[in-house]
Amino acid sequence: MMQAVKISEKVYWVGAIDWNIRDFHGYSTRRGTTYNAYLILGEKPTLVDTVKKEFYGEMMQRIQSVMDPTKIHQIISNHSELDHSGALAETVASIRPQEVYVSAMGLKNLTGHFHENLKFKIVKTGDRIDIGGDTISFVEARMLHWPDSMFSYLEKENILFSNDVFGMHYATNRLFDDENDEHIWWTEAAKYYANIVLPYSDIVLRFLQQIKQMGLSPRMIAPDHGFVWRKNPSQIVDLYGEWAAQKAANKALIVYDTMWGSTEKMARQIADGLSSAGTQVKLLSMHHTDRSEVALELLNSTALLVGSPVLNSQIFPSLADVLCYLKGLRKKNLIGAVFGSYGWNGAPLEDIYQTLEKMQVQLVAPVLKTAFVPDEETLSKCRDLGVVTSQKIAEKLA
Ligand code: FEO
Repeated sequence: MMQAVKISEKVYWVGAIDWNIRDFHGYSTRRGTTYNAYLILGEKPTLVDTVKKEFYGEMMQRIQSVMDPTKIHQIISNHSELDHSGALAETVASIRPQEVYVSAMGLKNLTGHFHENLKFKIVKTGDRIDIGGDTISFVEARMLHWPDSMFSYLEKENILFSNDVFGMHYATNRLFDDENDEHIWWTEAAKYYANIVLPYSDIVLRFLQQIKQMGLSPRMIAPDHGFVWRKNPSQIVDLYGEWAAQKAANKALIVYDTMWGSTEKMARQIADGLSSAGTQVKLLSMHHTDRSEVALELLNSTALLVGSPVLNSQIFPSLADVLCYLKGLRKKNLIGAVFGSYGWNGAPLEDIYQTLEKMQVQLVAPVLKTAFVPDEETLSKCRDLGVVTSQKIAEKLA
């Protein structure tokens, strides 16, 4: 039988580890993930969140290692996305808890998932429930990252259950921050923010202010993915403040693809121009890079330069994919440029320019394009574009 892991006097982790998932709705999870559920013991045992549907058995085994699951008094559903609620219906059917607590939007979303008349109890910010020996209070965290998202705070134990927020896709059986390698988790936490939370950065800043004003200073933060923050929970809170602020940095990201090497030649000259002018550059070919890795690199970039060949009078499909993805992430304060090689119709490159404009990217130059293979003059213009972009970054940093 799989075992629960004790994380505090009364709280056990009863989640599941998904070691081998490598694609989480289009996000490359190279280190797998966890679906964290927590069991709070006491007079009214409480289950906080469940797991992805196929891990129901694993979660139930872990609960059984501590107590009879049918003695669980209540369930809290902090977030209705299916990686946390997929097993909820089955869990409710087998445990038959007295109550299931959700936010108003949580009830709406779960009804959309299960198409049943769910008799769940709606809670909102400020509501508190007595669990016998301790109290749980609720803080709605709308749009972090779904409209239903909610935090639950175990008051005496001073543990904050934060659903997706402050989590990361990282499969580990070491359940605490201080048991995991910071070099690894920092990247995975940043990648999670860049791909999941970034569009809601303004809400993050307001929410961090709100929990500060509420005087919440948890000794542990227990998210629904990755591990529990206990050594220094404020570390991840501070990182969220930093990422959400989206301040300028002297870094440029070049995203491109190539058919016969021409657009790549241009990309490499632009990169060299940026580099010679003192800017850190990341050059990513979409032939070799997953879109969620691009999002990670964009998180601390101030320039986005996009290069594409033209195929059948369209931009290259890999660029269409990543642009669609990045548009949704709504990164702020970007400058950018467009470049590429075409055969006889360069117009599609203007589509990229227009897409960047719609993304509120400040374009530093008209589209730099060339028919077929770039000559020396074009490559020189590419270097100049790199230098100009670097200068524009410097202006933003000043
Ligand atoms: Fe981990 Fe938004 O689900």
